[in-house]
Amino acid sequence: MRIGVLTGGGDCPGLNAVIRAVVRKGVKEYGHEFVGFRDGWKGPLENYTMELNLETTRGILPRGGTILGSSRTNPFKIENGVERIKQNLTDQGIDALIAIGGEDTLGVATKLDALGVKVIGVPKTIDNDLNNTDYTFGFDTSVNIAVEAIDRLHTTAESHHRALIVEVMGRHAGWIALHSGIAGGAACILIPEVKFSVDKVCEWVESRFKSGYAPIIVIAEGAIPQDGDMITKDSELDAFGHVKLSGIGEWLAKQIEEKTGKEARTSVLGHIQRGGTPSAFDRVLATRFGLQAITAASEGDWGKMVALHGTDIVRVPLASATEKLKTVPIERYKESEIFFG
Ligand code: F6P
Repeated sequence: MRIGVLTGGGDCPGLNAVIRAVVRKGVKEYGHEFVGFRDGWKGPLENYTMELNLETTRGILPRGGTILGSSRTNPFKIENGVERIKQNLTDQGIDALIAIGGEDTLGVATKLDALGVKVIGVPKTIDNDLNNTDYTFGFDTSVNIAVEAIDRLHTTAESHHRALIVEVMGRHAGWIALHSGIAGGAACILIPEVKFSVDKVCEWVESRFKSGYAPIIVIAEGAIPQDGDMITKDSELDAFGHVKLSGIGEWLAKQIEEKTGKEARTSVLGHIQRGGTPSAFDRVLATRFGLQAITAASEGDWGKMVALHGTDIVRVPLASATEKLKTVPIERYKESEIFFG
């Protein structure tokens, strides 16, 4: 078979590990040929390709980002986008596609599958918010990066008797905030799923100061105050209708200073959370996803996404990945509240 591979959406550590596993097993066990499509859906849309074989995928396991490049191109928002993709796949002699991506990329893959394109999906996102998989690769690495930042912020916060706020990624799902906040011993964790009270946050800040420590507040970029709205960077939307977030940390720091009289500062971790080498956990998960994806393609099990259920890699309907967003269950958040303040 001749198989196209693409990576779409926000990059995340572990993408190269998937590509390597797909190609290694695909060539060695099944004798497949591969075409790398560049920059997400832009690749098959514009016939923008690169060679993908044993040589071009050597040495990439520990490398962050994606050798294929990525973009947030949405072929359904481009005139004749789907027809162009179908024509280019035919012209290139491509039998099937392996699409590695999050909500948006897999949403496009699901629609293409319904239109007769043979697709297998691989779930990725640092946000860990894809449905029907216990974890996505990239999440573990970004939590580790955030925890390292929190550990460092603890010592400087204590030296200066300041409240320090760490703004992490997570538009609608607070997984990174929750896990890094628990692992980093935060004085409180604020996630998009649960609107927060500024007065309550100030109480927690003051009680942490009283106990002789300086508070670290972990806040997801999509967290919302009880009597306010989500704070966005600007009003521009991407091809999938998302706004750019960031700013809630700064806003909260001002509120804390005004209400408690304590100095408060914010660190926005931003794209640092997505860059660099994947953790060992993510390398293993991404590798196992890649191996299962190429097996699924070789068996012609189209319209499936590989997923982690417990410790097993399974195949689930591609459409189920984007049926709903996997947000933090309220009881999981409540578990962490005992450590607030
Ligand atoms: O979806 C992954 C993610 O990192 C989100 O957590 C974040 O809101 C978004 O991408 C940022 O996207 P961009 O890099 O396009 O600004």
